[in-house]
Amino acid sequence: MKKKRTPNQQLAQHVEALLTQMTLSEKIGQMSQVRHFDEGMPAAIKTHLIGSVIHTEGPNPGEDAEGWQAKFRALQKLALSTRLKIPLLIGVDAVHGQNTFEGATIFPHNIGLGAAANSDLVEKAAAITAVEAQATGFNWVFSPCVAIPMNEKWGRVYEAFSENTELTTRLTRASVKGHQGYNGKIGVMATAKHFIGDGATDFGLEGGSTTLSRAEVIQRLLPPYQAAVQSGVGSIMASFNTLDGISMHAHQAMITDMLKGELDFQGMVVSDWKAYSRFGQNDIIKAGIDMVMAVDGDLEEFQEGVRLAVLNGTVSEDRINDAVRRILRQKFRFGLFENPFPDKGLISKIGIPEHRKIARQAVRESLVLLKNENQTLPLNPSSRIVVVGPFGNNSGLQSGGWTLTWQGTSKNYAGATTILDGIKKFAHHQVRYDPNGKAAMDNVDVAIIVIGENPYAEFFGDVGGEMDLFQLSLTQEQQNYHKTYTEKGIKTVVVLISGRPLVTTQQIEQSDAFVAAWLPGSEGDGIAELLFGLADFKGTLPHSWPKSEQDYQGKYGPNFWDKSVNPLFPIGYGLSYQKST
Ligand code: BGC
Repeated sequence: MKKKRTPNQQLAQHVEALLTQMTLSEKIGQMSQVRHFDEGMPAAIKTHLIGSVIHTEGPNPGEDAEGWQAKFRALQKLALSTRLKIPLLIGVDAVHGQNTFEGATIFPHNIGLGAAANSDLVEKAAAITAVEAQATGFNWVFSPCVAIPMNEKWGRVYEAFSENTELTTRLTRASVKGHQGYNGKIGVMATAKHFIGDGATDFGLEGGSTTLSRAEVIQRLLPPYQAAVQSGVGSIMASFNTLDGISMHAHQAMITDMLKGELDFQGMVVSDWKAYSRFGQNDIIKAGIDMVMAVDGDLEEFQEGVRLAVLNGTVSEDRINDAVRRILRQKFRFGLFENPFPDKGLISKIGIPEHRKIARQAVRESLVLLKNENQTLPLNPSSRIVVVGPFGNNSGLQSGGWTLTWQGTSKNYAGATTILDGIKKFAHHQVRYDPNGKAAMDNVDVAIIVIGENPYAEFFGDVGGEMDLFQLSLTQEQQNYHKTYTEKGIKTVVVLISGRPLVTTQQIEQSDAFVAAWLPGSEGDGIAELLFGLADFKGTLPHSWPKSEQDYQGKYGPNFWDKSVNPLFPIGYGLSYQKST
């Protein structure tokens, strides 16, 4: 009797059946990813046999969710009208909820989820992100970032869960699982990124050099990738940094030998932004990159360059076949051939109360109480309260980068609540608001001072480096908000909105209570629930907290290598009402 084929064997057979029919142009087409509005689009889907479309910074695909779906349905139809009818992978930078769509549920950035350290919550948040991403037309997300940030100067610290490898590994598993399948349904393909060493560059520079030894890379940075692979992650994105002086995109030993070989990763390796023209053209293909973000004018150079390289033997056809096999495998696995189009029925799920409830839970669990003197918290609802600072009433500022746009927004956006909104719900008296900390209002019992970092994302957010727009401490203006009230002898509760620990030793000393709130996302009102004691603080620091800027004179932050540096608070620190009273 014939043995029944396993699902994996069946999948492999589908892939092989398709691959054997493909021309070189069709194969290179599958390896190409473009933006939905790039030059030549949408015709390029047919003329260049495109395999994937990305939405990130730039014009929205439509006015509303129907419009987004319509756009991607039309592109998908074009792909299905090509000779082999291979559907598109349609990817989005949904890194804390479907954050590119106004009205979606936006979760705390990963650093906040690292503070919550709750795998079940991470899985639920990822599953909701999958639903809302599908509802807006996507079948792929470029998340989770599983970096281990070693220096707070890096402008992407908040995209990662923690500086702790074990915690990151545990949450990575949950995130991949949540994204890729929920309630027995197929979710979106997840992406573990950026492979490898993105958060461990010298002095925290985005795209800089990672000079760790191979043993350190394997011990500290590799475990989350191993967990992602074991959890069946569909894709892994290569990183901008160099390792051993070699661009990671062209690092064959790490991509092919380590990731695909030793770790037995069967999914696809996607490049980062314009990697073909930036990181060595065919070297990146030879190193093991399967799909290239050939965006923003890179498409012709990539497709022509690879074609010539195959024809002249620089890149082997086997390598191309391996890349295409991996891409097709994920397309079959995520059901794209059976269900290529977005589901209209999911539109009604975007930003619904059930989703926001989980995001609010994530906000509550992510807050870390660093100081609470004389039981300043929980607030007495009968006290006269003033909320101070622009971050106190601005959902854009409280959400950080990768919110509506790449570098974030400073506007209040649809569906979100602010910290002030929440405080108003619980206070018995009218809550006053002093947006720029200049009013120094009298007749108040407590000032809730909400200060933090303006939104930023990659490159822009580095401290030092090319842009050098940010600093490791609060700006003078922000420090003054605090001073205005402490000098009047008014009790102060500081709520810090930041993508990384900041040097706030003085503010912590001067305040009566201090809360690290990270970047909570759309459910800002959840913060008040803890301030008024409806729930207790559970969050613990996912990073050690620096004492001074001197802590950063070396390559890395206080918890790394230089054991003579004592952080102000160690990783894992966090008070609670139970513990502090
Ligand atoms: C970032 C990635 C992101 C990609 C697509 C890159 O610049 O490094 O994290 O997924 O852009 O927007």
